[in-house]
Amino acid sequence: MRIGILGGTGPAGSGLAARLASIGHDVVIGSRSKYRAMETVDDLVGKWPQLAERLTAGDNAGAAECELIVMATPWDSAAGTAQENGDALAGKVVVSMANALVRVNKKFQPLVPPRGSVAAHVQAAVPRSRIVAAFHHLPATELGHIDEPIDSDVLICGDDPAAVLTVSAIVDDIPGCRPLDAGELSNATAIEAFTAVLLQLNVRYKTRVAPKLTGIKRDPRVVSPSE
Ligand SMILES: NC(=O)c1ccc[n+]([C@@H]2O[C@H](COP(=O)([O-])OP(=O)(O)OC[C@H]3O[C@@H](n4cnc5c(N)ncnc54)[C@H](OP(=O)(O)O)[C@@H]3O)[C@@H](O)[C@H]2O)c1
Repeated sequence: MRIGILGGTGPAGSGLAARLASIGHDVVIGSRSKYRAMETVDDLVGKWPQLAERLTAGDNAGAAECELIVMATPWDSAAGTAQENGDALAGKVVVSMANALVRVNKKFQPLVPPRGSVAAHVQAAVPRSRIVAAFHHLPATELGHIDEPIDSDVLICGDDPAAVLTVSAIVDDIPGCRPLDAGELSNATAIEAFTAVLLQLNVRYKTRVAPKLTGIKRDPRVVSPSE
């Protein structure tokens, strides 16, 4: 699949770009500045020469032309950036991975964005797109270590069952990751806010945690969101 990442020059977007390229996707790293995107691609290819064929630099508008889009900007610019590219995003699966958080001293606290979650705010900004919330809890560093599996569940939610399945299939191909259908887009409120808890655990225990849930026996990919 050809995947565009808007705001792909940050740690999360570039780590995800490397990871998606490593499992066979063609990825366009988008930026407000194509030159910054070129630097990011150069850095990634310097580390992982085998990704050269799969990574391309673009501006955000260029990345928005891809089949599937990931919004990897800070939370407070995700809806605006999506809206600026609304025509290109129409009809497409758009993944929101942003967490609305604030750090006060060493304490992480969740914020409540308009409409309750970043994902819902993005959906309202681009109503013709199919928003799926995913990837909130995967640390950027682990995403970018493409030689190692990421031992984590990935909670995925959205109001379009086919879009959720599309994203689940991508996640399922990432070594170590298990996609879990976490319900409708309204659940993005809890998924995004929970990131503050994980980051607090990182500070408390001087580590980088990722979530894994027990008790789910079925192959998550065969569960239809409408079941
Ligand atoms: N870091 C993590 O471990 C992690 C993990 C999971 C999810 N997330 C989420 O993923 C998103 C990206 O995280 P990050 O740490 O990579 O963020 P970041 O470095 O702060 O920002 C990512 C990119 O967004 C673009 N950007 C910055 N301000 C912008 C604005 N006002 N308008 C449009 N674009 C802007 C910048 O790219 P250009 O200047 O090149 O345009 C920047 O490189 C966040 O929402 C975060 O909550 C992060």
